[in-house]
Amino acid sequence: MMQQTDPQEEHESINVPRLIETDFPFARLSQIAEHESWRKEVYRPVYYLHKWWARRLGSVFRGIILGACLDEDADFWARFYGPNDFGDVAIFDPFMGSGVTVGEAIKLGCQAMGRDINPVAVTACRAAFAHYDRRAVDAVYRALETAVAPKLRSYFATRTLSGEPATVLYYFLVKVVPCPVCRAEIDLFKRRIFVTNATPKKDPTAQAICPACSAITVTRFDATVATCTSCHHHFNPQRGAVSGAQVCCPHCATSFKLVEQMKEQLAPLAYRRYAKMMLLDDGRKVYESLNDFDRQLEWAVAEEYRTVVATLPRVRVAPGYNTDQMRKHNYRHWHELFSDRQILCIEHLASAIREIEDADMQRLFAALFSGVLEFNSLFASFKGEGTGAVRHMFAHHVLKPELMPIEANLWGTSKSSGAFSTLYRSRVQRALDYKENPTEVVIGSHSGAKRGGLNHPLSAPVATTYAELQANPGSVYLSQGDSSCTDLPDGAVDLVISDPPFFDNVHYSELADFFYYWLNQVLTLAPQTTTRSAAEVQDTDATRFTSKLSAVFAECRRVLKDNGLFVFTYHHARHDGWTAVHRAIRHAGFACVRAYPIKAEMSVSMPLQQARSPIHLDLILVCRKWSAADLPAFGEVALRSALEGAQDQVALLKGAAINVSIADAKVILMGQLLCATHKLGCLEQEAAFLELVAEDIDAYVADVLATKGEVLYHAQEPQQLMLFEDIAAYLAQREDERRGGQHA
Ligand SMILES: C[S@@+](CC[C@H](N)C(=O)[O-])C[C@H]1O[C@@H](n2cnc3c(N)ncnc32)[C@H](O)[C@@H]1O
Ligand SMILES: [Zn+2]
Ligand SMILES: [Zn+2]
Repeated sequence: MMQQTDPQEEHESINVPRLIETDFPFARLSQIAEHESWRKEVYRPVYYLHKWWARRLGSVFRGIILGACLDEDADFWARFYGPNDFGDVAIFDPFMGSGVTVGEAIKLGCQAMGRDINPVAVTACRAAFAHYDRRAVDAVYRALETAVAPKLRSYFATRTLSGEPATVLYYFLVKVVPCPVCRAEIDLFKRRIFVTNATPKKDPTAQAICPACSAITVTRFDATVATCTSCHHHFNPQRGAVSGAQVCCPHCATSFKLVEQMKEQLAPLAYRRYAKMMLLDDGRKVYESLNDFDRQLEWAVAEEYRTVVATLPRVRVAPGYNTDQMRKHNYRHWHELFSDRQILCIEHLASAIREIEDADMQRLFAALFSGVLEFNSLFASFKGEGTGAVRHMFAHHVLKPELMPIEANLWGTSKSSGAFSTLYRSRVQRALDYKENPTEVVIGSHSGAKRGGLNHPLSAPVATTYAELQANPGSVYLSQGDSSCTDLPDGAVDLVISDPPFFDNVHYSELADFFYYWLNQVLTLAPQTTTRSAAEVQDTDATRFTSKLSAVFAECRRVLKDNGLFVFTYHHARHDGWTAVHRAIRHAGFACVRAYPIKAEMSVSMPLQQARSPIHLDLILVCRKWSAADLPAFGEVALRSALEGAQDQVALLKGAAINVSIADAKVILMGQLLCATHKLGCLEQEAAFLELVAEDIDAYVADVLATKGEVLYHAQEPQQLMLFEDIAAYLAQREDERRGGQHA
């Protein structure tokens, strides 16, 4: 593995320990990663061109790639903040996602290859990494603006009470349901306040809607009594007809469960617009109820919608972990997640993007368009004043129906959030700036600064097959499909660097189908109507998850050079998440040789001692092809070295002022155990060893954290440790007990 800048190194062998196998500066890198995690989309906007879930931090992957390319005695930080050119190093990421590994590899001058089973992820990566002429991009944007902005704006034209023309920024909608007893229509307000400030302590003003006459009344965010300025009705603005899962009919006082009532109707709930936020010519934002002008426009929109909806493909929302909740609300087709006005805007935009002739340009604008949908569906809501006003629909990684959605001005104004024109600036232009001169986050004296001028520009021609890559050196190879089967030749890559799905966490394809429905209409990606696939590494069943993950890992082994490294990030709250990854590593013929904790992009929590303890850390697992030369070790030796290794890592993190929770310590210990266990050299005994340790894991974790005299909590004494020979005996004994049990 070599750098082009130093011909001396050209024949250096990868057998030399790499920096990541000896002394990897995970603590300082975690500090940088932590800083990056606060404003990821600003520090590395190229990965934020389109929505993806569980995106990893770029500085972590830059660190991993550097650590895997550099010799053990190289100056890591000089290279982290310096120029690099690993032109001979081929890197493959089999679980590409938003392309963090691929992007960081391009920046370091490597040959980058990525593959993902999900066409939405691959489309977004192709859009992110392709090469563009800035002026041409702007020209396409301006042409789109001329072609569709006037039409889209016309759907948000309004008049003030005094008849002045104004622009609607947001319509406020409420879902309605007929009362099962009196049949009156019930507004499904959770409370009557529909707008507050994002920091109400600073500005307590709130807008409420009168239950008697539907007029808008200004009140306080915490008021429990409000008086309507129009009809003088007194009401509690904190109350609505909905409380949890129950609805109480304000007309006849019947209480019923909303989901029960949904079973009675075939379609999703209807909605009603009750207020609008207008932007006046002088820049003021004003709330008003809808007037005759608005109602006439509403009627015209509904008419036009009827003809347009008939032309839309009907794609079923299949049952699933993430889709069952919305299916209970009768959302059975993907196009039903939008209001009539949203559909009209989307269709106009989609038709215009379909007309773009240049394929790269079309993909870029399709990615922008698709990302806009996240803020413009009936699942988006109002976040508050004084912040990005739209709470996008994936705020919680789920598809959750919204009872009080908003309808935002889709082309957008200077005061909009989540609109096509504003996201063009905040996503596309920002990403293009970054692509030209990718910067790094600096902490310390200039905390948060971005250092540029050290990376390769982040753009390359995109190859979609390996043959195409061979024919066009310097391309980035991005393919779509199951990574348990690739067209890469044996031993084609020096490094496999990845971030596999965590078992049972995020159901990517179920969520991605939301975007795929529209992307596929604009770009005609495939005849399939869903991104779900039986080969997707995602399963609530641990055995199936393990076998799918093993299949991809085995393919990684095939395409990896014998002296290559396989490095990936992982964490899991449950023990079966760890045993799954251990088995996958070993089934595929790898051994985990090093594990490092590193700041994770998001925190999850694990149940521990009745309480929940947050996990802030991921593990970086460094694997090599398994070789018998690693043997042997015994159970006790393995456990002791794991405990010591974990203690050292906790101390280093604490030294860097990084908080280590009990759950974090457990993650760190699991990493060390994974490294130690393969030395037992027999998969079943390794698994038994991990099981045994798991029984006492809380005590061992206390032991790890007790370094420097700190005792966080007192666990029971660990059981007497088993030796390697004892494990075999123990297994035999369990087998006997099982048989005995069967006979009894
Ligand atoms: C944890 S995500 C990767 C996230 C990525 N590191 C990022 O920062 O955006 C895992 C990815 O694996 C993909 N995937 C799952 N099963 C796959 C398979 N069999 N082949 C290829 N990709 C797969 C998913 O579509 C998802 O994008
Ligand atoms: Zn009133
Ligand atoms: Zn009723």
